[in-house]
Amino acid sequence: MDYKKIIAERISQHVDMDKEQLEKIIEIPPKPDMGDFAFPCFQFAKVLRKAPNAIAEELKDKISKEGFEKVETLGPYLNFFVEKGDLIKETLNKILNEKEKYGSSEEGKGKNVIVEYSSPNIAKPFHVGHLFTTAIGNALYKMLNFEGYNAIGVNHLGDWGTQFGKLIVAYKRWIDEKALEKNPIEELLRIYVKFHDESEKNPSLEDEARMHFKRLEDGEEEETKLWKRFKDLSLKEFEKVYEILGVKFDSYAGESFYSDKMDTVVEELENKGLLVDSNGAKVVMLDEYNMPPCIIKKADGATIYATRDLAAAIYRKNTYNFYKNIYVVGTPQALHFKQIFTTLKLMGHDWANDCRHVGFGLVKFADKKLSTRKGDVILLEDLLKEATTKTLEIINEKNPDLENKEEVAKKVGIGAVVFAYLKNNRERDIVFDWKDMLSFEGETGPYVQYTYARAKSILRKAGTIGSECDYSKLNSKEEFELVKTLKAFNEAILSAIDKLEPAMLTRYIIDVAKAFNKFYNSHSIINLEDESLKNARLNMVEATCTVIHNGLSLLGIETVEKM
Ligand code: ARG
Repeated sequence: MDYKKIIAERISQHVDMDKEQLEKIIEIPPKPDMGDFAFPCFQFAKVLRKAPNAIAEELKDKISKEGFEKVETLGPYLNFFVEKGDLIKETLNKILNEKEKYGSSEEGKGKNVIVEYSSPNIAKPFHVGHLFTTAIGNALYKMLNFEGYNAIGVNHLGDWGTQFGKLIVAYKRWIDEKALEKNPIEELLRIYVKFHDESEKNPSLEDEARMHFKRLEDGEEEETKLWKRFKDLSLKEFEKVYEILGVKFDSYAGESFYSDKMDTVVEELENKGLLVDSNGAKVVMLDEYNMPPCIIKKADGATIYATRDLAAAIYRKNTYNFYKNIYVVGTPQALHFKQIFTTLKLMGHDWANDCRHVGFGLVKFADKKLSTRKGDVILLEDLLKEATTKTLEIINEKNPDLENKEEVAKKVGIGAVVFAYLKNNRERDIVFDWKDMLSFEGETGPYVQYTYARAKSILRKAGTIGSECDYSKLNSKEEFELVKTLKAFNEAILSAIDKLEPAMLTRYIIDVAKAFNKFYNSHSIINLEDESLKNARLNMVEATCTVIHNGLSLLGIETVEKM
């Protein structure tokens, strides 16, 4: 039963506004004693020439109350208290029927949405900062698919640009082949840093680098071979991490993919009269929009990052005819994306309005900001390994006899890290703290996973749930609150998609776990004489498991049966 729809339908018979609009203004009251749904009457005061309180009173008298325990007014609000038994029965039946599909919908049917995430730079370390884009993007990708959209996950690899000329110069002079085989990214980073140190003393290295990149752009064999090797070695390392995280992409079309698609973009800009000469460089002026110019071609004729992003956006529109094109990239690149989107609009591509930059904060360890320049970064792989080790220590302490301890530690440890990244609004910085993150208490991944495992253990102890079941006996405050929370799953996912904010789903899962624990702490489940009550409660436990499982899996987190 969709209560909002029902309420909107009934109210529409008494006021002059269509059902869809009415449905949107129905609120969920902040406290249970204010009912389950509230209809604010302010809007109608002007047209009806009555005080909102009086309108609420009048509606209360006129409206049909079928399916509701009661309908009351509170000032300008009309508060609806649903028939608890109906809501509980209907919700639990739906969850138990739909199982792993519960929470999904056809909302996005027929709509292609590009989600670009992760997008690391080749030959650079995959560090803890990268988990932000990877986890947010992966969650959005999964949620969109779950709600019927056709999401296309794109890894826009940073695998093109003048830095590859530098890397080739460095390779030719300083590479240690053995080290390259053993620790490819470390070695590539070492020679890259060395290039920067050396070129300060000997600027002609920069010219050499430009020459090599030009040759790479022209498809010369030697440069292409080296570039390909750097890319393959790097990808192998990145894929290790994706494997650990269970993250997948539909496309790895990165910057190099657009190397032969930029000329037409430059031409289009030229033809539309948007290119201006600026000290030899070609730029699109954006001062009208209070932005610095978008550089398309440097003075030496080389295209850059922005040119590739323009080509990529146009390619995506032509290939996928996207409904939305989402870039999960750090907030420091906000200006870059504004410039790209504005330039696309100036080119006459109105679909630029369907492009979204989804920014996020920084990851901080103690007080140091993570940077890739000096090589003092924390590798994501190391962080995930440490999370696993630390979780194993905790399990050894709490539950030393657990089977598959390593497996559990991996899922819970990595899940804890991902959860921490997705817990707060994405614009907020994360300050890393192992103790907080791995704790079984508080708003953490392990807390939610432990709640799930505990619920599972109740179900194991109970065995098969009998068919004798009376949901009307679930009449305590805790039971109603839990079921009401379970009912709101789909809404939580849809809002997370709407705001492009996975934290809205994370918070929701925390609410489910909290509501379950409140119930669990005040009611017996297994030791009950009354079979029909016991089975009703067991079904509710099972439904809770389904929601936690589905929710966590949308965030890219696996559950464990025991921990
Ligand atoms: N490779 C870039 C970096 O590491 C991120 C790419 C963002 N995506 C884009 N379409 N520009 O900073």
